[in-house]
Amino acid sequence: MITIALSKGRIYDETAPLLKSAGIVARDDPERSRKLILRTNRADVRLLIVRATDVPTYVQYGAADLGVAGKDVLDENGGQGLYQPLDLGIARCRMVVAVPAGFDYRRAVRQGARLRVATKYVQTAREHFAAKGVHVDLIKLYGSMELAPLTGLADAIVDLVDTGNTLRANRLKAVEEIAPVSARLIVNQAALKVKRAAIQPLLEAFARAAR
Ligand code: ATP
Ligand code: PRP
Repeated sequence: MITIALSKGRIYDETAPLLKSAGIVARDDPERSRKLILRTNRADVRLLIVRATDVPTYVQYGAADLGVAGKDVLDENGGQGLYQPLDLGIARCRMVVAVPAGFDYRRAVRQGARLRVATKYVQTAREHFAAKGVHVDLIKLYGSMELAPLTGLADAIVDLVDTGNTLRANRLKAVEEIAPVSARLIVNQAALKVKRAAIQPLLEAFARAAR
């Protein structure tokens, strides 16, 4: 049995066509079904529906053989022990620093101000600001980061941006790009050895589909 861990929403939606070109189609729609283990048209392949941040954990421990996770998640939680053979080029966005439209970020940084930064990506933010020598107090949030500077909780946020619509709607602007982000295929290293005959053709099919 090959087990693939995925998160509901954009990762599932954008991975489904890749799975399809590898000949794998889920028997249930995760948006409609409450099932967390989805059978597929192939008796030897099943899908696990987990939180985006939990995908690497399932693969690391071997509860799933393969997974699809954003680079943001892999960078933040460590992709240690995971084989990352493929950038799938899906769920593309950018990790950025954003501030209120009227805030002079460069000046604040130049003056050596200590910035309060709210984010779900504490580790990523810590490394980014440390590398630039900017002093920050980090505030961990679990979502809706855009609210933090609007309410005085923070001066800046570190978050993902795609169209920029969420920033604009909340009168924020991106002032620094930290990294481009896209989803990666991740593989449990032991599974790759033990189940190579089954996994290798899948990797090749994914690579062809992701091109
Ligand atoms: P959870 O619901 O578990 O908190 P999440 O809200 O981050 O996780 P999604 O919003 O489905 O889950 O995001 C999954 C992945 O998709 C992210 O880890 C990131 O790599 C990518 N992503 C997030 N936001 C965007 C976006 N606006 N455009 C494109 N890709 C995105
Ligand atoms: C992500 C991200 C931003 C938004 C950016 O949130 O955290 O809020 O997308 O996309 P945009 O630049 O196209 O507006 P998401 O839609 O995943 O919501 P959630 O993480 O709060 O569920």
